[in-house]
Amino acid sequence: MYSKPYYLLSVLWLSLSLSYGSEVLIMITCPPHPHHVHENCFALAKSLRTQQQHMELASGGVPGDYVIKVHIMHELFNYWTLLYSLPNLRTQTRLLNADTEWIIWCQHNTHVSSLQGLLEQLQRQNAQELSYYGHALYDSEATIVHHFAYYKNPTWFPYPMLSAGLVFTGHLLRSLAELVALNAQNVSRHSEFSIDASHELARFIFDNFTPDQHLAGDILKRKIILKSATYICPAATKASLASQEMSPERTKRRIKDNMDMGCAMHAKPDIALTMPPPLSTASPVTVTTGNSKNCVHTTGSHIYFAIKTCAKFHKERIPIIERTWAIDAMNRRYYSDMADSGIPTISTGIPNVPTGHCSKTLAILQLSLKDINEQMNMSVRWLMLVDDDTLLSVPRLGALLSCYNHTENIYVGERYGYRLYAPDGFNYHTGGAGIVFSLPLVRLIVERCSCPTANAPDDMILGYCLQALGVWAIPANGLHQARPQDYARELLQQNLALSFHKFSNTQPEQTYKRWLGGSGGNESLHHAQLDHKNNNNNDHGQQATSEHFRDPLQLPIMMAANGKHLDL
Ligand SMILES: *[C@@H]1O[C@H](CO)[C@@H](O)[C@H](O)[C@H]1NC(C)=O
Ligand SMILES: *[C@@H]1O[C@H](CO)[C@@H](O)[C@H](O)[C@H]1NC(C)=O
Ligand SMILES: *[C@@H]1O[C@H](CO)[C@@H](O)[C@H](O)[C@H]1NC(C)=O
Ligand SMILES: *[C@@H]1O[C@H](CO)[C@@H](O)[C@H](O)[C@H]1NC(C)=O
Repeated sequence: MYSKPYYLLSVLWLSLSLSYGSEVLIMITCPPHPHHVHENCFALAKSLRTQQQHMELASGGVPGDYVIKVHIMHELFNYWTLLYSLPNLRTQTRLLNADTEWIIWCQHNTHVSSLQGLLEQLQRQNAQELSYYGHALYDSEATIVHHFAYYKNPTWFPYPMLSAGLVFTGHLLRSLAELVALNAQNVSRHSEFSIDASHELARFIFDNFTPDQHLAGDILKRKIILKSATYICPAATKASLASQEMSPERTKRRIKDNMDMGCAMHAKPDIALTMPPPLSTASPVTVTTGNSKNCVHTTGSHIYFAIKTCAKFHKERIPIIERTWAIDAMNRRYYSDMADSGIPTISTGIPNVPTGHCSKTLAILQLSLKDINEQMNMSVRWLMLVDDDTLLSVPRLGALLSCYNHTENIYVGERYGYRLYAPDGFNYHTGGAGIVFSLPLVRLIVERCSCPTANAPDDMILGYCLQALGVWAIPANGLHQARPQDYARELLQQNLALSFHKFSNTQPEQTYKRWLGGSGGNESLHHAQLDHKNNNNNDHGQQATSEHFRDPLQLPIMMAANGKHLDL
C-alpha cells in the first residue's frame, strides 16, 4: 500500500567537465510496467550519455559548455501529471536548483536524436524568460478530455505533445514548482480531474503566470503559452532512425543531417504493439510487483468481454458491436438491467441509473467470474469491462496483454487521476475506454471492494479501492475514453489505437475500420506460444464486503456525496 507519492531517482551521471557552464537537467519519466517500457528509459539515458561522450571527444566540445545531468524518474504514483511531480523535484531531490538553466523533459517514448542539436538550440533561446518549448498540438473542436476548454474557440490554444519532449527554462519550472508546492487554495485549477496532463499543464501555466515584463495589448502577450519549436518533432524523420552507437565522425555527420531535417528530438510509438519486447535483461533498478518478463501468446480467446448495456440500448448499440469487434471476441457477454434472450443479455438484477454504475459493475464482475468458472474453457486469463458504445481492436489488445503476467493482480486501462495534488488523490482507469483485469484481480475486487452508494462512479471507485489495495493503475496508450475527433491527430498517429468510446456524431463502423481494423496486433506475436492454463479452480465469488472499502483511505467527499462524476 502506498499512501503517498513516492519516487525513486537514479542519478545516472554527472558531467565531470571542468567548465563552468550552466546546467541542463534532462528528466526521463518512466512507468515501471511493463518491463520493456522500463528498459526504454535506460536506453534513452544510455543514448544521451553516448552522445555526450562523443561531443566531449569532438573538437567543438559540448555546445555552450553546458553541464548535463540526466535522471530517470520512476513513477510510483502521480508523476504522470508532470505538474504534481514538481514539488518532489524541487524539495525532496533538489534536482531542480538555482543553477538549472534548462530542463528537458522526456518520457520513455521520447527519442533524442541529437543532443548536440538540442543544446545548440538552447543556446539560441533566452533562458531568462518564463518560457517552454515543444511540439504544439491544437484541438479541432472543444473536447471533453480537455474539460471543454475554450469551447467557443478551442483551436487557438497550443499544448505540448509530451512524448516528443518538452523544454522549460529553469526560471519557469522553478516558479511552477513553487506554486504547485504551495498547493494554494487560490491557485487557479480547472478541475479535480487529471485527464490529459499536457493540456492541463499548459492551461495551468496560462492561468497562473504572466511574463515578467508586462506588455500591453494582445492578451496572448500578457500570458505564457507554449512556444512551438521546430526541433521538437511528433515523429521520427528518416535521419533520426539511426542506431545509437556510432563513431564520433558518423555522429557528427548524422547530427548535421538531423539539424538539416530540423529535428533534435521526437516521439516514438510504444513498442509493445509493434514488436516483441526483448526478453529479460537485468535492469539496475527494481521497483516492481507484478511485472512479467516473458510474453505469452494472447488472443481474443483469452479475454472475457463483459459489456455493460441497458434495455434502451439493446437495439441501437449491440448490433454495432456485433458487426465490428465482436467477431474477434468469442467470449463476450452483454450485461443489462433486463434479460433479453434474442441477443442474449444477462440481467444483473440491478435497475439502470443514468450516471455511476457502481453496484451494477460489481455485480457484473461477480456474475462474470461465475460464468467463467462454469461456462468457459480454462483459457480465459483476462476480463475486460467495456461499455456498449466502446469500440475495440481485440487482436491489438491481445498483443498488449501478452506482456503482462495474468497470474498476478494486473489492472490496465486509460489512466485518469482525481485530486492528485491532495493526499486523498488517486489514479483510476476510466470506464468507457475499457478496463482490463487479470482474473486474480477480479477475485480480489469482488472480495475487497464495495460501493459507497449504488450509483457511485464505478470506474473511480474501482481505482480508489485498488489504490488502497496497492494495485497499480497501469496505463495503456491507445485506449481512448472519447472519439477520434477528440484527440490531436499526431497522438492518434503515434500509437496504434486499441479503443474509442461514444457513438455520438460519429459513424462507428467507419471509426472501427479507419482506426481499429486491420491486423495491427496480428503481426506482432512471433514468440513462443506458452499455453498457460489458468489455475482457475472454483474459488470464485465471495460476497463483497463493505468493511474494506472505508479504510485505509478516507472516502473522498465528492464520492460520498452523490456520485457526481465526470460522465464522459
Ligand atoms: C493566496 O494568495 C495570497 C496573495 O495573493 C498569498 O499571500 C497567500 O499565501 C495565498 N494563499 C495560499 C494558501 O497560498
Ligand atoms: C507470473 O507470475 C507468477 C507469480 O508471481 C510467477 O511464478 C511466474 O513465473 C510469472 N510468469 C512469467 C511468465 O513471468
Ligand atoms: C473451448 O476451446 C475450444 C478450443 O480450444 C474452442 O473450440 C471452444 O469454442 C471453446 N469453448 C468456449 C466455450 O469458449
Ligand atoms: C494475420 O494476418 C495474416 C495476413 O496478414 C492473415 O492471413 C491471418 O489470418 C491473420 N491472423 C489473425 C489471427 O488475424
